[in-house]
Formats: sequence, C-alpha cells, structure tokens
Amino acid sequence: MASIHLTKLITPLLIAMSGTVAAAAGNVLLTAEQRHMALCVQTIAHDYFSHGRSTVVSMPQGLRNNSRRPLIHFPYTDDLQLVDLVLQHVNDDTCCPLQMLPAETELNTVAEINHSYIIFIWREQGDEDIIAILDSQLRVLKDSEALQWNPRGRFLVVVTDEDSSSIPSVALKIYEIMWTEYNIVDSIVLNPDSSGNRTVLNLYTGFPYQKENCKNVKEVTLLDQWVLENNGKFSNKSNLFPSKIPNNFHNCAIKVATIGFHPFVSLINKDMTEDGSTVYEVRGVTLEYFLLSMKKMNMTVLFLPPSLDVSSESAMAEAIKLSTGMADVVVGIIPLSPVFFSGLTEPSIPYISDAFKWFVPCPRPISRIEKIVNVFDASIWLMMITVFILTSALFWCLANYPDRMVEKESKNMQTIQKSTYSVWTIFIGVSVPEMPRTWNLRIFFLIYVCYCFAMSTVFQAFFVSYLIEPGYEKKIETFQELLDSNVNYGYNSVLEFGMQTMDFRDHLKFPPTRRINCADLKTCIMRMMSHGDVATISAPGYAKYLANELGHHGEMKSPCSLDENFIYGSLVALFTNGNPLLKRLNTLIRRCLEGRLVERYWAQLNHEALLKSNTTYDQEGSSMYFVFTLSHMRPVFSVLAFGYVCSTIAYLAECLHKRFSK
Ligand SMILES: *[C@@H]1O[C@H](CO)[C@@H](O)[C@H](O)[C@H]1NC(C)=O
Ligand SMILES: *[C@@H]1O[C@H](CO)[C@@H](O)[C@H](O)[C@H]1NC(C)=O
Ligand SMILES: *[C@@H]1O[C@H](CO)[C@@H](O)[C@H](O)[C@H]1NC(C)=O
Ligand SMILES: *[C@@H]1O[C@H](CO)[C@@H](O)[C@H](O)[C@H]1NC(C)=O
Ligand SMILES: *[C@@H]1O[C@H](CO)[C@@H](O)[C@H](O)[C@H]1NC(C)=O
Ligand SMILES: *[C@@H]1O[C@H](CO)[C@@H](O)[C@H](O)[C@H]1NC(C)=O
Repeated sequence: MASIHLTKLITPLLIAMSGTVAAAAGNVLLTAEQRHMALCVQTIAHDYFSHGRSTVVSMPQGLRNNSRRPLIHFPYTDDLQLVDLVLQHVNDDTCCPLQMLPAETELNTVAEINHSYIIFIWREQGDEDIIAILDSQLRVLKDSEALQWNPRGRFLVVVTDEDSSSIPSVALKIYEIMWTEYNIVDSIVLNPDSSGNRTVLNLYTGFPYQKENCKNVKEVTLLDQWVLENNGKFSNKSNLFPSKIPNNFHNCAIKVATIGFHPFVSLINKDMTEDGSTVYEVRGVTLEYFLLSMKKMNMTVLFLPPSLDVSSESAMAEAIKLSTGMADVVVGIIPLSPVFFSGLTEPSIPYISDAFKWFVPCPRPISRIEKIVNVFDASIWLMMITVFILTSALFWCLANYPDRMVEKESKNMQTIQKSTYSVWTIFIGVSVPEMPRTWNLRIFFLIYVCYCFAMSTVFQAFFVSYLIEPGYEKKIETFQELLDSNVNYGYNSVLEFGMQTMDFRDHLKFPPTRRINCADLKTCIMRMMSHGDVATISAPGYAKYLANELGHHGEMKSPCSLDENFIYGSLVALFTNGNPLLKRLNTLIRRCLEGRLVERYWAQLNHEALLKSNTTYDQEGSSMYFVFTLSHMRPVFSVLAFGYVCSTIAYLAECLHKRFSK
C-alpha cells in the first residue's frame, strides 16, 4: 500500500514538472482499457500530428493547486496515471515534442504555428459539467501568452470518464463547442463505447457544411473504432482527419461587413423584404475578388449595412461586428498592416496591391505670346540688342571717318538715325536703300548679314513650332521640387496615422501654413486637377478613376505624380482567427488574380465614369492630332495689325507735322 500511495503522491508532481515521467509502477493500476487508450493516442499522434512540431497536452485545471489538496482522496488519480502513460508513450515515440499546459517555463515557440493538441477531460467531482471543463481548458489555451493557439491544428479530445452516459451526445456537444466557440474543425473525440461494449474505443467527429446543414453540426459521425486486442488496432483504418471543407457550400450564408468608399465599396441597392429586414446590395473593386470566390463556393453573401467612409469610428464599428460574430468577414479598404495581426483576426492574402504616390498638379499649357518671347533666353535677347547698338555705332563711325585713301561713303550711313535704320532693315531681312562703298564697311556689313540670317533662321524654326504647340510649364518631378513650389499639402488624418506607424517622415517637411485638410480625398484630388494648388498622397488607380469621373483624359491631362513610389499598400479581407473558409478563399483569390478577372470590372468602372462625364473630344489640345488653323496664326496677324496701326499713326503724324510746321 505504501508504494501505491507514494506513486500517487509523486505522479502529479512529476507531471507538473515535466510530464515525461516513466511511472512504470503506475501501469499496474490501470485497466486494459486505459492502457489501450494510451496506445490509441500514441498511434494517432504518430500517424496524424506534424512531426517535429510541438504537441500541447492539456488536462483539467484543478490539478494546478494540487499541493493544497489531500492528494490521496483524488477520485481521478487513475486519470492522472493515464495522462502519465500517454506522455510516456508519445515521448518514447519521439514524433512530436510535448508541452504541458499551462507552460511553467518560458517557451521559445514564437516561430511555431502548427501545434497539435491532446486534451484530456474528466470530471473532478461527480456532478461537474464536462463541457464547462473543456471550455475552461480551451480558454486557457487560447489566452496563453506562449502563442500556443492554432485553431487550424489537429485536436484530439480524450474523454476518460467511463460513466458518462449517452456518449454520442457528449461527443456532439464537445464537437459543437469547439466548432462554434473556437472555430476548430479538425477535432476528434476519443471515448469508451457508450453501450458498455468493453472491447472497443470510439472515435467521433463532426462535419460542418455537410448535408446542407451549413454551420450547424447536428450529429457526430463514428469515424473508426480502436479494438482492444493484443496491442490494439483500428478496425477500419479510415482517415481520422479527413478534409471537412467542401467545395460546394450549397447556398450557405456568409455575413459580410464592408468598409470603404466608392469605387472600392459602393452601395448599389437597398431593399426591404416582407419581413421588415433590409437587404443591401454592395459592389466595388475590393469586393469583386471576394464575390467571385463566394460564387464559386456556392455561398450566399448577406451584406450587413456598409460603412461608406474610412474613419477610425467606422473601422471600430466593423471590428466590433467581426468580434461579436455579427459578421463572418470584413471586406473593403482594410490595409495589410501589423495592427490586424492580433490573435483575434486573420487576414486573407492581399488581393489589391498598389504603390502610393505623391500626386502633384500637372504642368499647365503656356500661352503662345509668352512662349514666343521665351524662344531665346533673356541673355540672348540682351546680346542681340547689344549687337544691334554696337553695329549701328560701328556703321556710323566707319561711314563718317573713312579711310582717306578711298572715296567718300554714301550718305546713307552718315547720320546715326540712318545707320540704325539700315541695321534694323538688315535685321528683319529687308534690303537697304544703298550698298556701302568702302571695303572695311562692306566686310562688317557682310558679317552682319550672315549673323542676322543665322539668327532669323533659328528664330523662325522655333517660332513656327511654338505657334503650333506652345508646350507646357515645367513639371514637378522630385519631392524637393514639390517642397520648393508653392503647392499646398493636402493631408488625410487616417493616411497620416498609417504613415506614422510605418515611420514615413517626408510629409512633415511641409510648413503648417501649407497644410490643407483633405478628409475627403476625392474633393482634394479634384481640386488638384482643376485648380492645381494642392498635392496629396493617393493610389494611382484611384486618382485615374477620379480623372475619368471629371472627364479628363489624354496623356497630359491625366493626374500627374512623382516618379518615386511612396508607400506600398495592399488590401486584405479579415476573418476571425481560425475560420476554415480562409484557405479556400485564398486559393480562389489567387486564381482570380492569375486570371486577372477583376481587371475587367475595374476597366468597366473607369470606362463608365468617363462616359458619364460629358467629355467633348474636340477640345483644343485634347488629342494628339490637330489641324493647323487660322487661330494658330493669330499672334502673327496681331503683330502685323499692330505694325499697320503704328505705321498709319506715324504716317498721319508726319503729314500733320509737315502741314503745321510750314
Ligand atoms: C502543419 O500540419 C499539417 C498537418 O500535419 C501539415 O500538412 C502542414 O504541412 C504543417 N505545416 C507546417 C508549416 O508545418
Ligand atoms: C490556485 O491557488 C492560488 C493561491 O494559492 C490562487 O490564487 C489561484 O486562483 C488558484 N488557481 C485555481 C485555478 O484555482
Ligand atoms: C463490440 O463491438 C465490436 C465491433 O463493433 C463487435 O465486433 C463486438 O461484437 C461488440 N461486443 C459486444 C460485447 O457488444
Ligand atoms: C468500417 O467499414 C465498413 C465497410 O466499409 C463499414 O460498413 C463500417 O460502417 C465502417 N465502420 C466504421 C466505424 O467506420
Ligand atoms: C448551389 O447549391 C444549391 C443548393 O444545394 C444547388 O441547388 C445548386 O445547384 C448549387 N449551385 C452550383 C453552381 O453548384
Ligand atoms: C453632364 O451633363 C448633364 C446635362 O448637361 C448634367 O446634368 C450632368 O451633371 C453633367 N455631368 C457631369 C459629371 O458634369
């Protein structure tokens, strides 16, 4: 007896310490059924658990405070020995490292995501609810700080209680609570046969989404039986962890919360049904991948009232819908960000990725007159004027102080006015009244004619091309140029918060006086395109869509951005942790991405926006080709008319002067 008591005393302590105790003496106390149970668990662990990955073992919590209890009177010491034996077997098998829960030492499990679980449950007192015990154990697992929770892992629940009446219903309750409360699909329940057949152990599991039951599990299926003979064996050797997520969900409903703004999420329709509930019809670029996947899965999408803006309040509202189970998934403008990697939610693969860019006002067309003045730089204009003055002076000097050896120069250059007049005629390409006579004046004359010819050829070439296409102002190409310009920065507080978490600082370089609130990105981008006094950060796809809505099209009229990418962002759908639909949804999203199915929808949206926008295609400068019309010649004719007016005035003035001076 003493040795038995000693074993009973030591066992729980050893389990609590490491759980790898070989309590050989304890085996004597166990029934054949319990020994087989241990063998069965070992076989399942060996065959189905990920090798090399941790297996977490959990048992009812009352044990934790065992040091204060009179150990000898435990009604469940047999169960402890069973746990002990299972640990010994699994450990001997060396398939999976074991962890006892709760872990008492700091575990380095951060990198591990693929735990398997063995959960023992038994009643500590006769009247306890076995389901409540399981629930509290799962809660401890889920809340454990060692990141040991993986609802997609494989769970084996061992019910050691022999006198649990009506076992299939207990198995059903166990499966149900694990599925509805914890999103666990792959769980099996191992228990003794209910009808008192002492030669078999039963393995039950449930199949959600089967037989058009959708999420409800109404019955459990007997997967296999462990036959208690010799070393034991499975009677049917069937797969104990079959795939449970079907390809066809037979119109099961999925409740979808949405957040975002047009064109990412838009409310298309809102209908009242006979029973007073409202049916929302929501579409949008972010939803399209999800809807295509759901159609393929044959699931009915039920939209909850959408949040049609992106603010912290609406984000919070949608998060609450997800966490309270009102919604199964949130879709829309949900950036892939560390904020969402909490233990409660799980993102899908990113399905829309885009690089955010700085959008700046586009360069504006320059007026023709301005452009013609700018054919040459100011320095060249200055040079030409200098040359003009010097040449006039030179001609005058040469004509007035000729070489004594040669005959006198003609009178045409001898006054300063006449010399200037000659130089001007040559400059604009008109013939002079008389050729110079002295050889040195002729040489300078010839050089000046050549110079004027060259200058006017260059000028005419530019002049004609600018008459046709005056060109545009200088484009803002770098962030520094943007800072140096007088363009304001349109800030958006949600975006700024996001940038703050990612350590972007560029936008803070704008002085406070140049910050403009851009809570509504749409008005801001539209203002940028129409007034050109604000720059902001946006995704290129969205800016292009807005340009189409405004009816801007063509190379120069589309929104302009800096070349460098600012932030990369992707959108995801958000599920509660462990949702089994996620894997299939990811597969389908990946196929939609590969097939570029949503591009068609996006192109259609853009095209519709453009068609609705009253654009006229014959606007000046709106297309690559144009007809050279009289309007392009307007500046030339204006100069001509101005010349005529001037000369008429001069003529009249001369006439009057002559008349009155007499
Ligand atoms: C997780 O376990 C499953 C089932 O044992 C296995 O198929 C999968 O490859 C494992 N994943 C990792 C990352 O180890
Ligand atoms: C165990 O005992 C400690 C104090 O000894 C107490 O604080 C703790 O709540 C107990 N835990 C359980 C699960 O009863
Ligand atoms: C127990 O179940 C097994 C397999 O279902 C069967 O072969 C055996 O006859 C049953 N024994 C009793 C006593 O019912
Ligand atoms: C074992 O296989 C037989 C024949 O395939 C089947 O009739 C029986 O229901 C199976 N038993 C279990 C427990 O799956
Ligand atoms: C979707 O499920 C319903 C209900 O089971 C079925 O009638 C329909 O044929 C299924 N549709 C597809 C495309 O499989
Ligand atoms: C297009 O023109 C119609 C009628 O002229 C007008 O009602 C509508 O608002 C215009 N749409 C846009 C986008 O300007």
